[in-house]
Amino acid sequence: MLVLGIESSCDETGVALVQCGDTPQPQLLAHALHSQVAMHHAFGGVVPELASRDHIRRVVPLAREVLERARLELGDVDLVAYTRGPGLAGALLVGAGVACGLGAALQRPLLGVHHLEGHLLSAFLSSDPPQFPFVALLVSGGHTQLMYARGVGDYALLGETIDDAAGEAFDKSAKLLGLGYPGGPALAHLAQRGDAAGFALPRPMLHTPDLDFSFAGLKTAVLTQVRRKEGSACDAWRADLAAATQEAIVDVLVSKSMRALRDTGLSRLVVAGGVGANSRLRERLDAACSRARTRVHYPELPLCSDNGAMIALAAAMRVEAGVASPRRDLTFDVKPRWAMHELNSTEDHGSAA
Ligand code: KG4
Ligand code: ZN
Repeated sequence: MLVLGIESSCDETGVALVQCGDTPQPQLLAHALHSQVAMHHAFGGVVPELASRDHIRRVVPLAREVLERARLELGDVDLVAYTRGPGLAGALLVGAGVACGLGAALQRPLLGVHHLEGHLLSAFLSSDPPQFPFVALLVSGGHTQLMYARGVGDYALLGETIDDAAGEAFDKSAKLLGLGYPGGPALAHLAQRGDAAGFALPRPMLHTPDLDFSFAGLKTAVLTQVRRKEGSACDAWRADLAAATQEAIVDVLVSKSMRALRDTGLSRLVVAGGVGANSRLRERLDAACSRARTRVHYPELPLCSDNGAMIALAAAMRVEAGVASPRRDLTFDVKPRWAMHELNSTEDHGSAA
């Protein structure tokens, strides 16, 4: 089965082709991405209307590009998958609308995919794919969650952030340090030159017995440091503060992930989402998992942040596992707000036959 996946939930247009069924592992044949970061940069964050309009401009050329790279034609596609939610309503509608149009023109079925399920499954496209069951640490721009993943479409929420997501903590702290949007990668880059011991920043909920997170207090602590230094911050000072911020976020993520493994008795951790690209997080998780004799899996770096491959993959895995049946009628909807734990193996999301 050849799946064309379209991702358009936020500020990245992603299109990909995934082949499954012929080999034990799904194969990524091609993927292409257009990031809107430069366009939104001037505004310090994503402007939803601009995002939607840009998705409209990009999605068809990107689809052509992946088909050319894979030396395939539209008629070869068996299933058209799109991100159904969560995300920006207008942006989601672009991907859903194009998917529906393609489905109609090609007379192929459609499947709407949960964006976070896409992230959660993206490690299955890596050279070291995981096996169920596992604990998933989902760390994206808007979500920080620990999930118990029993199988495709069978996820239980173990804990989540009660305020800001880890990605938000990176982005907001980066903004305070004058690093622009989205600040996570820039803060991580600056942190490489800094000394994390230079500041004692809070690690909210580090020792609570639950699996929840809180990052809002960290941003306030960074703001306090920045205000104190107003106007006289040198590069070395900013690098130290970046390193300390990163270390505080990573400390909490590692500690709660290890607690989730202990609490569930599982011996496999899968990291997913944009923050999963952070090298300090990977280094610390590798060390903690090796001490605990636990396996840890990551998506390939380009597949940590939003992309079409994870959407095509999730659709393929849902169909193969029999938890979703693609729809053949020409209606679609999007779910801008959609909790991941609402997914379960019996429900048929965006996929009424
Ligand atoms: O999963 P993602 O691409 O989009 C969402 O679904 O939200 O995650 C984006 C988030 C942003 O907060 C971004 O700053 C963060 O991931 N991020 C990073 C790194 N790369 C992306 N945070 C820290 N270190 C990185 N290397
Ligand atoms: Zn995402």
